[in-house]
Amino acid sequence: MKAIAVRRETTDPVVIEKPRPEPSAGEALVRTLRVGVDGTDHEVIAGGHGGFPDGEDHLVLGHEAVGIVEDPNGTGFEVGDAVVPTVRRPPNGTNEYFERGEPDMAPDGMYHERGIVGAHGYMAEYFTSPAEHLVRIPDHQAPFGFLVEPISITEKAFEVAYASRSSFEWRPETALVLGNGSLGLLTLAMLDETYDRVYCLGRRDRPDPTIDIMDELGATYVDSRQTPVDEVGAAFEPMDFVFEATGYAPHGVQAVHTLAPNGVIALLGVPGSTDYEFDVGAMHGELVLHNKAIVGSVNSNAGHFEAATDTLDSLPAWLLDDLVTGIYPVDDFRKAFVDDNTVIKTAVEFSAYEER
Ligand code: NAP
Ligand code: BGC
Ligand code: ZN
Repeated sequence: MKAIAVRRETTDPVVIEKPRPEPSAGEALVRTLRVGVDGTDHEVIAGGHGGFPDGEDHLVLGHEAVGIVEDPNGTGFEVGDAVVPTVRRPPNGTNEYFERGEPDMAPDGMYHERGIVGAHGYMAEYFTSPAEHLVRIPDHQAPFGFLVEPISITEKAFEVAYASRSSFEWRPETALVLGNGSLGLLTLAMLDETYDRVYCLGRRDRPDPTIDIMDELGATYVDSRQTPVDEVGAAFEPMDFVFEATGYAPHGVQAVHTLAPNGVIALLGVPGSTDYEFDVGAMHGELVLHNKAIVGSVNSNAGHFEAATDTLDSLPAWLLDDLVTGIYPVDDFRKAFVDDNTVIKTAVEFSAYEER
């Protein structure tokens, strides 16, 4: 079968041939439909994040997959079920985090991430997975099912951030999303009617397809070249909730000065080492004297995937059409890895979805 992989010492994905995997006991065989690409994939390909499986000279890419069960192999699935796999797998058998159904909380060394670190991903014509790491989705979601994983990332981050505000009566009205990539825009769309006013930060000139989506969602565009993150609160209004999805490390601390009293910042980006001169005393004082919180959030578990399928159904069709700027067959896979201002979300299609 064909797979898309990056080889050691290279930064250019290639199509390779691999044997079709055989499901072990407890695993199902899945025919891959589509696999999405996000900022993390670009970081993995560039060598800035993740790592190769032990003893392998390549890493099959892809962690945002949707597929159709081809061989249930005695699991509870039926042939033809549409499924989305979770990302993390235990490196040696199992461990307490996986046993609790909370692999997203496992520390380094206690997980692999398929397509990212230590385990091959889903960019192949077929993959196998233990049944407990496959989430059934309604058939009608199969074409856009590759969005379930990124939506699940935000489900978890919302849960973690809101939990940090659960000890008092928190009534957020304003939210700011930092970043107009696919994660930022999906998150912007997921901010519900709790928020009266929502903002999204980028660094682009109009006309731009991401700013068009912000306009359509009723959000206010904030250009970081004109309004640095620590000045957004003063220039627009203080934000009760800030969701960082730029991967630009200074944003996380700058946002403290734009956050309203009692507000919370969720950090999602995975930046490398970054030197940045900053008044940490002022930041520390702000956090303490105004009961502000900063939380980090990574990955998601099956419960977040289930919540994400409900959310996917609630998103307007126009948003999915505008967000997904290209779906490419394996033979044309390079287009899915183009990273310029015309691209928001892409996917590689391994097989076509046929309604049953
Ligand atoms: P992406 O497509 O690379 O999006 C990042 C966006 O941030 C881009 O649109 C970029 O704008 C914008 N940006 C970067 N620096 C900026 C600045 N200084 N001012 C204004 N805008 C800036 O990535 P993504 O897939 O949406 O993911 C976002 C981040 O979340 C990445 O760092 C990714 O690794 C991380 N992530 C984390 C998790 C998790 O579990 N924690 C899950 C998924 C993704 P331009 O395109 O104009 O440069
Ligand atoms: C993936 C997560 C993963 C994170 C860190 C994200 O892009 O969606 O599942 O935990 O990267 O590797
Ligand atoms: Zn991702």
